[in-house]
Formats: sequence, C-alpha cells, structure tokens
Amino acid sequence: MAQEQHAPVITIDGPGGSGKGTISQMVANHFQWKLLDSGALYRLVGLAARNHGVALDNEVGLGVLAQHMDVQFIATDPDTPADVILEGDKVTREIRTEEAGAAASAVAALPSVREGLFKRQQDFQEPPGLVADGRDMGTVVFPNAELKIYLTASAEERANRRYKQLQAKGMDVSLPDLLKGIQERDHQDMNRAIAPLKPADDAIVIDSSEMSIQQVFDKVIEEAAQRGIS
Ligand code: DC
Repeated sequence: MAQEQHAPVITIDGPGGSGKGTISQMVANHFQWKLLDSGALYRLVGLAARNHGVALDNEVGLGVLAQHMDVQFIATDPDTPADVILEGDKVTREIRTEEAGAAASAVAALPSVREGLFKRQQDFQEPPGLVADGRDMGTVVFPNAELKIYLTASAEERANRRYKQLQAKGMDVSLPDLLKGIQERDHQDMNRAIAPLKPADDAIVIDSSEMSIQQVFDKVIEEAAQRGIS
C-alpha cells in the first residue's frame, strides 16, 4: 500500500446468520470499496484440506494450506457475491454448505491457520477502502479500523434467516438442524482460545433481530458519516 494513500477500513464482525455478509456487500457497494469475506477463506482451508487429504486436526498441514492455497475472488457484478476459485476450480456454492461451515469452524480454532491467513487478509486493505467481514476483523486483523461494527441477532432468528436463504438456493435443509448447528458453531467460535468471537472494545454493537436489512445498513452509514466516511 502506498504510504500517502491511506485506505480506511470498516470491520463488520458477528456470528453466522447475523446479516454480516449482506450488509458488508451493501456497504462496500455504497462506498465502492473492496470487500473481504474472511469466512470464505476459512471455508476454503477446510475444502482444500479435504481435496488434499489433510486431516482437520493436522495443524502443520492446515497452516501450510492456509498460507499457500491458490485462491481468487472474482467479482463480476456488484449485486452478487464474488465467484470463489480454489486451485482453478469454481467453488462458490460448495463452500456455502453446512458441512463446509462446520469444517471452517474446526480449522478456524487452530493458531497455524489463523496465522497463515493473517497477512492474506491484511493484503485486502487497498485504496479507496475496505469493508472486512468476519469474526476478528476489528479485534485482531484490523485493530486500527476507522469503524468497527459488531452485528448480532438471536440464534433462532439467525436459523430462520439461514433456512430461508438456503431454501431459496434450492438446498434441502431442516430448521432444527440449522439451529443446532448455529448454536454449536457459536459455542465453538466464542470459546476458542485464539481470536474468539467477541465485540472489539470500541465496536458499535447492533442487534438486528428486530431490524430490517435497510435499517441496519442506514445505521452503519450513519456511524460511518460520524467518522468522516461518506
Ligand atoms: O462467516 P462464515 O460462516 O463464512 O465463517 C465460517 C467459519 O470461519 C466460522 O465458523 C468462523 C470462522 N471464521 C473465523 O474464525 N474468523 C473469521 N474472521 C471469519 C470466519
């Protein structure tokens, strides 16, 4: 990054299904900034591990994959999530399955994986700015971010949203299974020893359980404006 050109960062952290992904994309489009979907990187490590026959408890092997796997995010139009390419294969849908989410949560607990992805994530910070979506964007990866949002919602509401989202994509899912999965993943993400999911001390916490997407978006833009981002 050129020194004279500072690239501001907005971090949007929170549990799965809180609406982070949608809001992050909307905010990035609004400012025409880059978007980092850090969860996709953890999902990709899980997938790369499966492809290479690396066990999900092989710390060293997973750390190597995190650092060296060949990944590309190709954004074609601003209203759809970028295509995700792993070692030449398009895996945009494959990384979104519940199975891929569970593998991601397992590998995300390993220090070697978090270290392997650390610099990769920081490299996304480029002018004119970056919206970083994840769990530890404000606490660990971009501690100096101009604006930190922690977006949450009740587990039941998040399970409902994920259910509708997956159904709309034609995926066959059960609501009780989704709720159980979300609760297990919350527990795992919030209680791991390294970079646990929690709001940064200086984060704005937004509970979206009773809010529309537009209301959450408006609140983020308002907070950004208060910090001179417009
Ligand atoms: O947001 P997501 O569901 O795509 O994230 C997948 C998993 O990756 C999730 O269980 C937590 C983990 N993760 C993480 O530990 N740190 C991040 N910055 C992003 C995701």
